[in-house]
Amino acid sequence: MPANLVVGAQWGDEGKAKVIDYLSKDTDIIVRYQGGANAGHTVVVGGNKYVFHLVPSGIIYDNTVCVIGNGVVLDPEYFLQECADLEKSGFKVKEKVLISDSCHILLPHHRLIDEVRELGSSPEGKIGTTKKGIGMCYADKMLRIGLRAGDLLDKDMLKRKLTHILDVKNQELVKYYDLEPVRFEELYKNLLSFADQIGNNIVNTIYYLNDELDKGKRVLLEGAQGTGLDIDFGTYPYVTSSNPTTGGALAGSGVNFRHLKDVIGITKAYATRVGEGPFPSEILGEAGEILRKLGGEYGSTTGRPRRCGWFDVQMLKHSIVVNGINSIVLTKIDVLSHYDTIPVVVGYEYKGKRLTYFPSQGLEDVKPVFAEFKGWKDDISGISEFSKLPPTCQSYINSLQELVGTRIGIVSTGPDRDHTIIMK
Ligand code: GDP
Ligand code: IMO
Ligand code: MG
Repeated sequence: MPANLVVGAQWGDEGKAKVIDYLSKDTDIIVRYQGGANAGHTVVVGGNKYVFHLVPSGIIYDNTVCVIGNGVVLDPEYFLQECADLEKSGFKVKEKVLISDSCHILLPHHRLIDEVRELGSSPEGKIGTTKKGIGMCYADKMLRIGLRAGDLLDKDMLKRKLTHILDVKNQELVKYYDLEPVRFEELYKNLLSFADQIGNNIVNTIYYLNDELDKGKRVLLEGAQGTGLDIDFGTYPYVTSSNPTTGGALAGSGVNFRHLKDVIGITKAYATRVGEGPFPSEILGEAGEILRKLGGEYGSTTGRPRRCGWFDVQMLKHSIVVNGINSIVLTKIDVLSHYDTIPVVVGYEYKGKRLTYFPSQGLEDVKPVFAEFKGWKDDISGISEFSKLPPTCQSYINSLQELVGTRIGIVSTGPDRDHTIIMK
């Protein structure tokens, strides 16, 4: 059976978790493949809201196994807290979660350095990270001074590796950042306790996933963040430190590319981003505040207000090309019911010339070109059939589909599982 992929087509928070939850009923295994506790994935079922950070969003279904892939950076403290919260809500987490033995463990110095860099940066250098240590953990992975989940399973090996890591990192903490060193004994003890609690769940998920796919199991790959935040294809340096895009899904799970079938791109009917960085369709001032309130656009991880903007066709086309998206899910269309007319960015101009692509540099200097669509001014929350949408709303959806040149397969009209239109 195939693996399908859910990927963010904007700057994160597109409603990926709602879609993953919706698709999980026909899925056996859900795999988070990158990012860490920087993600905030919200699922609403029967009016109850659950927010996931590290645990895959498919955990709510009884029939699913959830995998934390090798591309994730796993913070033991956040993970245990999340497991405890979910178990309190009645979900079996430890029975259903597998952790890749190759996924990197996020350690206290990663968080400390992320925080101090964000606080100390000049406005020019500030990224607006979630301060969860994500970039530092990935940097150490690339520098080959990281600790992996499998290393926790052998006490002596853990001791050797952690000693070396702290020898190097404590010098950096003290000499470069003027911070206190991380104490070996305390961290070693905490990591052993983590291994005691979760050690049995740490396995080689690369072979597990490919074997299960060969046996006919259905796999869903869960992206965190989005294409605009991709370290290679996003608005560098205002990005996260991983590849949320399709290449990252394969590298971060080990799923053989021949298994991959559909790449499902998630986009809001408008746009948001959190943190710094260029945002050509951004709505500033009071108008932006109105959309923020209408959409409830406050970060699920940090609580920060999200910057709001209009749907950006040029950006979506970039995501479609980079990811190979063959089906789009359009979320939060209900939020636009307030407007008489709805602007959409249909292209960019740079120095008076129309650009035919999403530029790698100079996005802050492009001038967005707008088209206006008629609004519907009718409450469409929760509608689950396309034919029941007002004609101008149908027409807005059809126009977006034509403009981006890719099929819209699902339209979401509210946060709940049932607020979903499957397009014929
Ligand atoms: P993710 O990070 O991509 O999973 O998205 P988040 O969970 O961070 O943010 C999406 C927010 O929008 C969540 O609060 C969802 O419950 C909510 N949401 C998802 N789809 C819809 C929709 O169609 N309409 C409305 N009104 N809210 C939605
Ligand atoms: P989900 O999975 C939106 C943003 C941060 C910052 C940049 C780098 O919920 O869509 P980091 O902490 O990753 O080093 O921060 O990336 N960011 C997100 N924005 N949704 C997310 O995740 C995000 N994860 C990180 O705000 O701009
Ligand atoms: Mg989110």
